[in-house]
Amino acid sequence: MRIKFIDLAAQNQEITERIEHELGEIHSRTAYVGGEQVAEFEKEFARFLGAERVVGLANGTDALRLALLAIGVGAGDEVITVPMTFIATAAAIVQTGARPVFVDIDSDTCNLSLPALRMFLEEKSRDDRGRLKAIVPVHLYGMPTEMIELKEIADEFGLKIVEDSCQAHGARVLSKEGWIRAGVIGDVGCFSFYPGKNLGAWGDGGAIATNDEEIAQRVSLLGNHGRLSHYAHEICGYNSRLDSIQAAVLRAKLEKLDEWNERRRIIAAAYREMLAPLEVLPIPEPAHLESCYHLFVIRSTKRDFIRTTLIEKEIECGIHYPVPLHLQPALSYLGYRSGDFPISEALSDTVLSLPMHPHMTGMEVIRTVETVAEALASTRKAAVARQQTSATIAADL
Ligand SMILES: Cc1ncc(COP(=O)(O)O)c(C=O)c1O
Repeated sequence: MRIKFIDLAAQNQEITERIEHELGEIHSRTAYVGGEQVAEFEKEFARFLGAERVVGLANGTDALRLALLAIGVGAGDEVITVPMTFIATAAAIVQTGARPVFVDIDSDTCNLSLPALRMFLEEKSRDDRGRLKAIVPVHLYGMPTEMIELKEIADEFGLKIVEDSCQAHGARVLSKEGWIRAGVIGDVGCFSFYPGKNLGAWGDGGAIATNDEEIAQRVSLLGNHGRLSHYAHEICGYNSRLDSIQAAVLRAKLEKLDEWNERRRIIAAAYREMLAPLEVLPIPEPAHLESCYHLFVIRSTKRDFIRTTLIEKEIECGIHYPVPLHLQPALSYLGYRSGDFPISEALSDTVLSLPMHPHMTGMEVIRTVETVAEALASTRKAAVARQQTSATIAADL
């Protein structure tokens, strides 16, 4: 039996009744874009996050782009982010007219390295920091960046923070006041509701979350043709609206999100325990950060062999991401080279995402780990056989 990487059909089964009802309502009211479903979802997601405001948008890339525009980023500015992320993080910066500037990641959390960031900012402030406007930390794989410390650095250097929370719905960071959701510590948090996310729609969708009313209004304006009323346009904006069907799906799934994330955490704990004796390194979870396990990622120098074995045994897996952004052709104009960000580069050569979704069974976790163990054992056997052959050849010479 194939082990799926994610199982959206199983998710849908849990929300079928509610969705059928909501879709019927949308159909009879013929309110397809915006409307009550979107307004209710915005309120409910804001409550879930502990944010003052949420604005629904068409996708996560737009959420990042419009958030950056709303905080004043534009042509000629520079925005710091990490090379180890999905292309959309940097593409959104480029779409504002600004230039992405990369800082390497931490080898444990795989998120923005705060010592590397401080070093970069201190060096940069000696010559020219004038163009730097913002930092876009990425909560990669669902593990939040160390946001409390990052906020202190950003404040010290007068930079805004736009959180890329596109993989971190429900992840949390421990502060002095208690746990805070990823996406509400910086100036704006950006979410994607692409179907495979922990909170996923039945198509594209996105949102920003913020405690700053001015930013919320600006994003709203930018995402809806700069509209103040139906035919009064304050600025030339964009069309980036969330539609009612997606909002209805998101409302139904939001009710399950805590339960589904908890199940992901249980699966992650089982993976960790079972993988502990093997020569693979799961991304560690520090006590003050709570991942929502969008992905469960291990690192191994034998990654490619493990991956081939899993695929042979019909166990779906993935590499997130095989090429760090500074080495992507689309961003070659930035002038970075191989070797510039060694930790991101090493990670992209060794990471492997194992199946992870809330409906995974214990047997599926066991079969996945056993297959990883088998793959490692066969590479060890192959290495011993190679050594014996070399020894025999050497003796014959
Ligand atoms: C880290 C990250 N940033 C941005 C995005 C962009 O989101 P969307 O695909 O909804 O535009 C994604 C989506 O995969 C993502 O994983």
